[in-house]
Amino acid sequence: MLHPKGAVATQRLFFALWPEPALQQHFAQAAATLLPRDAGRRVRAENLHCTLVFLGAVEAAQRLCIEDAASLVRAEPFTLTLDRFGYFRRPQVAWLGCTTTPVALQTLVGGLRYGAATCGFTPEPRAYEVHLTVARKLRRDPGRLPLLPIAWPVKQFALMESVSESDGVHYRPLRFWDL
Ligand code: 2AM
Repeated sequence: MLHPKGAVATQRLFFALWPEPALQQHFAQAAATLLPRDAGRRVRAENLHCTLVFLGAVEAAQRLCIEDAASLVRAEPFTLTLDRFGYFRRPQVAWLGCTTTPVALQTLVGGLRYGAATCGFTPEPRAYEVHLTVARKLRRDPGRLPLLPIAWPVKQFALMESVSESDGVHYRPLRFWDL
């Protein structure tokens, strides 16, 4: 499909674990309570999620391929226990993560990465590190913060679209798969 200016139409897509609104509020509350008030820009509660595989700009045919590939992935439901804060220095983000990554989550991400590679996406060379970004543009590591563990029962994963609008980024669920 071609846009008026000749550019191919794409959507910015990623696979994610998407929490229920009550859990998103819980994560937002933990970040608001524990992060210093001036530490970066908080992610809005309704945007809080955990990326599984980032795809980037995707054309319609690639989207069909990736949806088929995702339908072939088999992984068990699991509980994600978010029990620690972390900080990525280069992208300057603070996140909630897990001391122990469930095996089923590794299986899920491995399956989605494999599926993405079969559809022509560049494989991600880094090992998967589960993280739920709670704040961006933090210039300093907020250090060790005493997060009370939050249990998140995960029964499905989603293909999401990222849409930039004048009031910021919005994430739109396109399709869910049960584990
Ligand atoms: P982040 O939370 O680590 O910033 C939607 O933009 C999601 O995709 C975000 O959760 C973001 O992860 C992730 N993302 C955005 N750009 C990315 C990139 N270039 N590589 C990997 N993940 C990316």
